[in-house]
Amino acid sequence: MPAGLLALGTYVPEKVLTNEDLASFLDTSDEWITTRTGIKERRIAEKNEYAYDLAVKAVEDLLHRHGEEALAEVDQVVVATNAPDAYFPNTAALIQHRFGLKAAAYDLLAGCPGWLYALAQAAGQVEAGIARRVLVIGAEVLSKITDWRDRSTAVLFGDGAGAAVVGQVPEGYGFRSFVLGADGSGGSALHLAALAHSLPDGTRMGHKIYMNGREVFKFAVRVMDTATLEAIEKAGLEKRDIRLFVPHQANLRIIDAARERLGLDWEQVVVNLHKYGNTSTASIPLALKEALDRGLVKDGDHLLFVSFGAGLTWAAAVHTWYGGAA
Ligand code: UT7
Repeated sequence: MPAGLLALGTYVPEKVLTNEDLASFLDTSDEWITTRTGIKERRIAEKNEYAYDLAVKAVEDLLHRHGEEALAEVDQVVVATNAPDAYFPNTAALIQHRFGLKAAAYDLLAGCPGWLYALAQAAGQVEAGIARRVLVIGAEVLSKITDWRDRSTAVLFGDGAGAAVVGQVPEGYGFRSFVLGADGSGGSALHLAALAHSLPDGTRMGHKIYMNGREVFKFAVRVMDTATLEAIEKAGLEKRDIRLFVPHQANLRIIDAARERLGLDWEQVVVNLHKYGNTSTASIPLALKEALDRGLVKDGDHLLFVSFGAGLTWAAAVHTWYGGAA
């Protein structure tokens, strides 16, 4: 049987940081941020709130929406994050313990596409019979690794988390394709140091996010185009079959370029970056849940996901929505 999404929950911290707030301590403006990115505000975690805390709240939301049985058969937990609480123990193991799961647990680091990479892992393991159900979480506290003096990055990111359960779905539903890719030659365009302070090409790294925005922008427009078309083709579908496009929420101009190439109307595109900014691995689950809450997703709809980020990496997937999800 194919694997697909069965349940979803999300969380964003309460604290809102608006463009005007940023303009009070950075040389920037609401006008610049809005026209260049589409972002109006973002959520910021409390001092003592980390990726684990946000992930717990997203799982609690999932349980609230779908009931306790949603986690009943979960035997693996994957947390995709670029801002883990610790190198080890991995955040997924803390989640396993917190919810009393009998499950394997690991974190996955693949830039913003981490949640899609994790879904691909989960779907593959469910289809291969290695796992029954997998809890796939994207959780980020980018505010803690943002250089608040760097206007070129500080205005972009936000904190949040999303959690999904992947399991068996009936024939004709679930994931129809995955496209995953990486090009490490672009690693210096977006980086943050851990143990080593330089990349193989000699680029020096610091302990706050560094990004060459223009380079990432050009890369993003290119891979959003090629990865989505490849995912649609692999799924055995045409562009016109896509009902809803749920892209990574990084920049409205990047989303618009992809929308145009796909020939989609704005009503078919989920956008919420004006409220949350770029929440990295949490951005697609946050957008998907919003689409579900707005009644935009119906049984049998083909959904298209795509993301790009540090690595540089990219991922796209086509998923046929199963309306009978638990
Ligand atoms: O999840 C993946 C994460 N990364 C991304 O998605 C980033 C992709 N890139 C982008 O979204 C865009 O490149 C940015 C929004 C980051 C920047 O937009 P841009 O149109 O590429 O602007 P730019 O970097 O070419 O900068 C244009 C000007 C520069 O001034 P000069 O050199 O023309 O005088 C910047 O210094 O805008 C200046 N600038 C700002 N001005 C006001 C850069 N950041 C700001 C700012 N406020 N926050």
